[in-house]
Amino acid sequence: MKKSIESTIRKINGSMALEGMSLTEEDKNRIRDIDEGKTTIELEIGKLNKKYMKNDAMMDTIKKIKDEDKKKIIDFLRMEWGSTIMVLREGEVFDLKDEDGFVIYDKDNIIGLITYRITNNRCEILSLDSKIENKGIGTGLVEKVKEHAKNNQCSLCRVVTTNDNLKAIGFFQKRGFHLVNLYVKAMDTVRKIKPDVPKKGMDNIPLNDELEFEMNI
Ligand SMILES: CC(C)(COP(=O)(O)OP(=O)(O)OC[C@H]1O[C@@H](n2cnc3c(N)ncnc32)[C@H](O)[C@@H]1OP(=O)(O)O)[C@@H](O)C(=O)NCCC(=O)NCCS
Repeated sequence: MKKSIESTIRKINGSMALEGMSLTEEDKNRIRDIDEGKTTIELEIGKLNKKYMKNDAMMDTIKKIKDEDKKKIIDFLRMEWGSTIMVLREGEVFDLKDEDGFVIYDKDNIIGLITYRITNNRCEILSLDSKIENKGIGTGLVEKVKEHAKNNQCSLCRVVTTNDNLKAIGFFQKRGFHLVNLYVKAMDTVRKIKPDVPKKGMDNIPLNDELEFEMNI
């Protein structure tokens, strides 16, 4: 019995992962609990409905960046990334303050921001920030950009992150992105343009390389 539920979980997870929505441990335990009779499927569907209704409400709070947001966005980007300038791959420079994006506010404070650029039916996420983690903000912002990109004839979404950013590396892969390129020592080039970029990154991991992920949308 145990073996068969684990294989069902693997199958469900496989199809959900293809949609960029892998099952969380909480979801897997929910299925196990139903199998063991600790709860009922109706009860769990009710809980999921509530969770997704909350996520729907959050999706409604995501707004396209407008001119009047710019000042706050510039301050936010400076705080999060040291500057509005983002250097990707082998020295491609973007000024995020001039790029399109979506923003989430809590009262007057930005709690989520994503910027992107669409060129030749490809969408590139240039930055992504969530100030209240593990509540669905990051996922909501990525979904919003993917939806917008699809509506603008894009078939591919791309994002670059750094080797120290273990959370982002896991986050994007769990949402259906896969690794397509590794830019070894790309941060040496970045430091020529942004000398303040530290040698050590998150969790004190040496900050050396950039990883590029893509997904078909
Ligand atoms: C990477 C980053 C954007 C993720 O943002 P986030 O808001 O924490 O993302 P989410 O909340 O959507 O998802 C994170 C986890 O919370 C869980 N979660 C989402 N909604 C939830 C909810 N309502 N209740 C409980 N958990 C939830 C998700 O399952 C997810 O876990 P998983 O990745 O293991 O599946 C954020 O960590 C961040 O801003 N990092 C710093 C900047 C950065 O590195 N940007 C990316 C490089 S460009």
